[in-house]
Order: sequence, then structure tokens, then C-alpha cells
Amino acid sequence: MAVQINPSILSADFARLADEAKAVEGADWLHVDVMDNHFVPNLTLGVPVVESLARATDTPLDCHLMIEAPDRWAPQYVEAGAGSVTFHVEAATAPVRLAREIRAKGARASMALRPATPVEPYEDLLPELDMLLIMTVEPGFGGQAFLDIMLPKIRRTRELINKHGLQLWLQVDGGVSASTIERCADAGADVFVAGSAVYGAEDPAEAVRALRHQAEA
Ligand code: DX5
Ligand code: ZN
Repeated sequence: MAVQINPSILSADFARLADEAKAVEGADWLHVDVMDNHFVPNLTLGVPVVESLARATDTPLDCHLMIEAPDRWAPQYVEAGAGSVTFHVEAATAPVRLAREIRAKGARASMALRPATPVEPYEDLLPELDMLLIMTVEPGFGGQAFLDIMLPKIRRTRELINKHGLQLWLQVDGGVSASTIERCADAGADVFVAGSAVYGAEDPAEAVRALRHQAEA
């Protein structure tokens, strides 16, 4: 299980996005949080910014859509240059159709679960996905405290993935830091989003290396 570290530009300086993206070269993916002020009570950026970012960095973009109507919008993020697009199952009308559409357009298809959304009802959908995102905070803001109560869900999801022999990546997002990443890795996560723990550090690239080292231990 290869460890991947995805810095979240939500904690970066939005006036200097290209430089902030370059500051974490060496990371596996750049995590881009799209918020619409409806699905979550915050507003960030949309398709035009993703298009510009895709041109500004060689690091592939992992777009996390915290928006209503992802069935309508997610394909546009693939066209904008995202290599992976995550929609929330709570907002999607037809998650299977949407995952197939994202894949058909050439990106990795990923589905996210809010903390109160259980994984079990989606067991049969897992083969349609390239990644499952388990939120470890309520989505909407960076810098929140990690929800320990999500560890059993991470463990159960890893068991489902293994039971079905799937290649699906298991991502965690929210409060991932030097003090929580080992617990996430131990529970079975292999893709780690970190916003404040990377961009709040003196040297973001070094923070990525340190988190990777901890997750691999
Ligand atoms: C929260 C976002 C996260 C956020 C994580 O809704 O989905 O990606 O940037 O930030 P930290 O790592 O600071 O919790
Ligand atoms: Zn995110």
C-alpha cells in the first residue's frame, strides 16, 4: 500500500496559488477544495481557477467537490484538467453514472462520505471508484480538529476493500497532522490530505516529507 500525501491549497495564500503549488512539488497530488456555500457554509473557487492551476503546476490535481449538483459540475472539472475528481455521495443524484462519466472522461473517480454517512450502504458501488474519501472533520473549513470517532469507519472500509480485492485508494481529509497521521495509516488509509499541517509549516515541502515518513513507518 503506497502512501500518498496531498497538500490542500485551502490553507495556502489564494493570491499566490501558482507559487504555493510549486512550494509542495514532491507531493503526490495537490488537493483542491471546491466549496459552493450551499453544500458547505464556505465559498472557495471554481472551474476557471482549476484550469489555471492545472497549467501552473506539474503536480496532478485532486479536486474535492463540496458542492450541490455534482452530477452537473464534476465532468467540467475533468475538462479543466483535474486528474482525480471527488464528489460527495450525499449530494449526488446518480453516483454510479457520475463515477462512470468521470472515468470515461479520463480522470480517476472518487466518492466522499461526510462523518455521519456510513460506508456499508455503498459496498456494492466500490468497484466503480478509484478512491473513497472518508472525511475526518465536517467539511467546510481547514484547521479543524481530527475526529477520532472516524477511525473505526476507516478500519471497516479497509476491510471491505480487502474483502473484495479492490485496488481502490482510501483517502482521509480533515485534521491530518503529525499527531494524527499514524492513527489514520494504522486504520488503513493510504492517501492523506493535509492543509494546515503543510501550509502552516515553515517549510511546506519538508512537512510533506515528514508526514510521508510518519505514514510509512
Ligand atoms: C475541509 C477540506 C479539507 C481541508 C483540510 O472541508 O475538505 O481538505 O483543507 O484542512 P486541514 O488539513 O487543515 O484540516
Ligand atoms: Zn478536502
